[in-house]
Amino acid sequence: MSYSICWVITGAGHLLAETVEYLLSIDFCTVDLHLTRAGREVALRYGQMDRLKSSGREIFFETDASSSRLIFFSSGRYDALVIAPATSNTVAKCALGIADSMASNFFAQAGKSGIPIYILPTDTASEMTSVTPSGKKISVRPREIDLKYTDELSRFPGVTLVRTPEEVADSICQCFAPEAPE
Ligand SMILES: Cc1cc2nc3c(=O)[nH]c(=O)nc-3n(C[C@H](O)[C@H](O)[C@H](O)COP(=O)(O)O)c2cc1C
Repeated sequence: MSYSICWVITGAGHLLAETVEYLLSIDFCTVDLHLTRAGREVALRYGQMDRLKSSGREIFFETDASSSRLIFFSSGRYDALVIAPATSNTVAKCALGIADSMASNFFAQAGKSGIPIYILPTDTASEMTSVTPSGKKISVRPREIDLKYTDELSRFPGVTLVRTPEEVADSICQCFAPEAPE
């Protein structure tokens, strides 16, 4: 059986290159790629858009009509929703139950449809090293409020927080794997 995943890339530079690298290697399921408005801008600035396009997958960009794709969660088209990387903005909206952007709207609808959700947040520690679009290493210090919403999301039913793009595959395979016979 072939699984189908809805994958949303938000406007995060942190872990973006690693996520795209991993996305290009996925062959165990179908992936519909979605980019938020900021995701599109950041992917362009980090030089990742051409790599995404080279995957041959159709890319859906956030527009005023993105809501029309919400139907795919209740209609059973998707087996899982992945938001990776997920900005602190999207993580906070999801944790607060706000659904006014493509990523937060998909999160809410997937939750209401009982579809497993996998999130790779950018803000997971009080100090992190990241890279700018020009490749310069920088130190980033997420605020208490950013870490608070990451933590809150980790306790949402049906939501799995992952730390690396590869962990998405491990978690999804565990979720879909048939139960071992007793
Ligand atoms: C070059 C660039 C890199 C960014 N990287 C991050 C990041 O790693 N993590 C983060 O939380 N926000 C980051 N941002 C800020 C988000 O893009 C911004 O909060 C945006 O509103 C998020 O929208 P979205 O969550 O709908 O994608 C970055 C912005 C720019 C311009």
